[in-house]
Amino acid sequence: MALVYPRKLDLARTPTPLQYLERASAKWGGGHRLWVKRDDLTGCGLSGNKVRKLEFIAAHAIDTGCDTLITCGGVQSNHCRATALVGAQLGLKVHLLLRGEAPPQPDGNLLLDYLAGADVDFYPPRQFFRELDQLFAHWQQHYAGQGRRALAVPTGGSDGLGVWGYIAACEELQDDFRRAGIGEAHVVSATGSGGTQTGLTLGAALHDLPATVWGINVCDDERYFLDKVASDAADWRRRYPGVPALRVEPRVIDGYVGQGYAIADAGVFRLIRELCALEGLLLDPVYTGKAFAGMLAEIARGRFRGCRDIVFVHTGGLFGLFPQRGELTG
Ligand SMILES: Cc1ncc(COP(=O)(O)O)c(C=O)c1O
Repeated sequence: MALVYPRKLDLARTPTPLQYLERASAKWGGGHRLWVKRDDLTGCGLSGNKVRKLEFIAAHAIDTGCDTLITCGGVQSNHCRATALVGAQLGLKVHLLLRGEAPPQPDGNLLLDYLAGADVDFYPPRQFFRELDQLFAHWQQHYAGQGRRALAVPTGGSDGLGVWGYIAACEELQDDFRRAGIGEAHVVSATGSGGTQTGLTLGAALHDLPATVWGINVCDDERYFLDKVASDAADWRRRYPGVPALRVEPRVIDGYVGQGYAIADAGVFRLIRELCALEGLLLDPVYTGKAFAGMLAEIARGRFRGCRDIVFVHTGGLFGLFPQRGELTG
């Protein structure tokens, strides 16, 4: 059955390159070829994985008469920054509900949120987690009272709508594999709100991509992401009843969260420095640095044995380097 995509806007610079890491493969590959799908190159301000989801989310917002996007995340959320920039690009108002305190000086993603003209509110983490649904409802009502219509976009843009972004990206990976002579691969990415992993997992099955998809969680745990992927996939099927019935088999590699979300250890910062000097490739400490470190540790443990190629999906996040500059210098 042909897959019918919902409408999307053209916001991401795609297809992104698939890049072979020659020196990193020699140093850490343990006999595997290491590749990077450069989704950090989906744009400049709009770099990273979120813009692939937002292509579908923003189209849906416009098609349903919305003039405002409300979304949420941490103070350094890449998703919020991407949403703020997409809103500015499309003439939509953006309101961000951020978890944490306003820093004395905005930096990294938050600085860009302000530059893009987003409205920003900060909530203490306890209130944020307890009342998130009410906060969304409150602000939606607030905008309705002004005669506006606001779409509530969930954390990370991860739901049955946002997952289309990485379902579509699997078509790109098919071409990448063909051109690079990859017969079969492990595809690895950071997972934080589950949408990228869900999209890749569904997309690989839908497009017969010879790939085993893994998410390396940067927060929560394996159980959380097994459930999250299942629930995003179920939401996708509910919203689009014509899509093929698939059995979703998410795979999570747990064990690399360290002390918690956005807290990286010295090994991750060392890897960021080493990989940048070795290959000119930048990782961030919150998502891609942790996931890349996890991937290398799993290579060393033999998890991917028997398959020559490993593709790391670089999901961006580079603005997150700047607020953690203290760990990277000196
Ligand atoms: C840079 C980066 N990489 C990976 C992820 C994880 O993607 P997802 O939220 O779709 O799990 C995120 C967002 O959470 C991100 O900002």
